[in-house]
Amino acid sequence: MKTTKIILLGYMGCGKTAVGEVLKNQLQTEFWDLDRYIERKLDTTIASIFQQKGELFFRAEERKALEELLQIETPLILSLGGGTPCYYDTMDFLKSFSHLKTFYLQTEVQTLSLRLAEAKSSRPLISHLENIEQIQEFVGKHLFERNPFYLQAEFKINTDRKSVETVAQEIQSQLT
Ligand code: S3P
Repeated sequence: MKTTKIILLGYMGCGKTAVGEVLKNQLQTEFWDLDRYIERKLDTTIASIFQQKGELFFRAEERKALEELLQIETPLILSLGGGTPCYYDTMDFLKSFSHLKTFYLQTEVQTLSLRLAEAKSSRPLISHLENIEQIQEFVGKHLFERNPFYLQAEFKINTDRKSVETVAQEIQSQLT
């Protein structure tokens, strides 16, 4: 059985987009980042969607975008937003597809927090946090709440202290 859709999921800052870019080049397969798709479709940024329309509007658009992209019949690599698996019945929805594999990029709170501290302005859920201690506290609690969704992925790939290339290689080794 051939995998035709690769879904990358995990918390903000786990490297979904970076790993997706590497896989795209290695597998010569179309790659979409769900946030970028939404930004193009609505011609705005994720930050301004949150600001102007609110999070619930964003979650509905996010689910719609996921459904649209999964209609593509050719092979596809798709990186989700950090929250995508945690709203509606999205994990069950993903599991309903054949030829689709889900990969949870599992990353320690410490690593995520350090990465997010450098790029928090574009991420509305954490942009109000003032320092690394607050980010760590937030990420620790939030990841605890989200893990039950993420852990439903078919494959769990630990990314700590690994290069993007190594993570991409581990994903490739699970494709048949
Ligand atoms: C979110 C993660 C973001 C983006 C939005 C909400 C979340 O995507 O979808 O800011 O709820 O975790 P990334 O995980 O690509 O940063």
